[in-house]
Amino acid sequence: MRNKFAPSALKVSAPGKIHLLGEHAVVYGKPALLATIDLRVTVSISPAKKFSGNSVFKRIIEPIIKKKFNLQKIPSYKLEVNSQIPLGCGLGSSAAISAAYIGALLSFLKIKWDLNLINKLTFEAEKVFHGNPSGADNRTVIFGGITIPSKLANNFVLINTGKPAETTKEMVELVAVHKDKYKKIFDDQERLVKELLPVLKNGNKQEFIRIIREGEKNLESIGVVSIFVKSIIRQIEKAGGAAKICGAGGKTKATGILLAYHPEKKVIEKIAGSLNLPFFNVALGVEGLRQNH
Ligand code: PMV
Repeated sequence: MRNKFAPSALKVSAPGKIHLLGEHAVVYGKPALLATIDLRVTVSISPAKKFSGNSVFKRIIEPIIKKKFNLQKIPSYKLEVNSQIPLGCGLGSSAAISAAYIGALLSFLKIKWDLNLINKLTFEAEKVFHGNPSGADNRTVIFGGITIPSKLANNFVLINTGKPAETTKEMVELVAVHKDKYKKIFDDQERLVKELLPVLKNGNKQEFIRIIREGEKNLESIGVVSIFVKSIIRQIEKAGGAAKICGAGGKTKATGILLAYHPEKKVIEKIAGSLNLPFFNVALGVEGLRQNH
């Protein structure tokens, strides 16, 4: 018979996210708009005699749980992490992995499923990963959201410019050096985020293009878009579309995922193809953290 106190095998998954607008400015208290995407990370935990799995994640997550619940020891387990989300490319992989791992570990320890608690603990993990996170990534991947009218959502293409040489932590620190000088830009991102809200309801394509273009210019002004990626974005704009980096960005060459939009999606796919850059479509606004049975 199974001991009712014995930890059991568990699976928890979390989606990735995109930043529609407001990254970096959100670190300084400005609003940001994020949406979940239908690429997920699944974390499985099952009882084992000895720990096996990614010890880097374990070293970050276990101390957070032990501290919160005043635990000396966590029973051994096998940790499996399967990710559909490209890592370190601005799609929220660290928040998704941390949230799913914490969710699975708490369930393994028979602690009641509580999204607010998991969100708090995931924010602690994000601090270890990113130094000074805004908390927007963890909130989005845990609570899910937002839905966008299909006439906009169906014309997004995500282009992968590659994994940036710089981490999110480094990019956030780079911006922090000049944060006072950038105050006006952060204010302007706030204005654009507010202008984007009604557009996400009414689906006005031209307004959407204008806002994304202006938002991207602001991101360029704070130095988080490399010359290489700026030139790709200019090509998309010239062809009548709009594109922006998604997340922390990069200054050397690759900036991770580019969020690109064009009323004729094929135009973007052609540009990405001509540059030999992988591209893909995602559904937006999917469910947040969930237990997979
Ligand atoms: O690149 P990502 O997915 O880690 O997103 C970072 C977003 C920032 O606004 C730059 C930082 C933050 O904590 O919100």
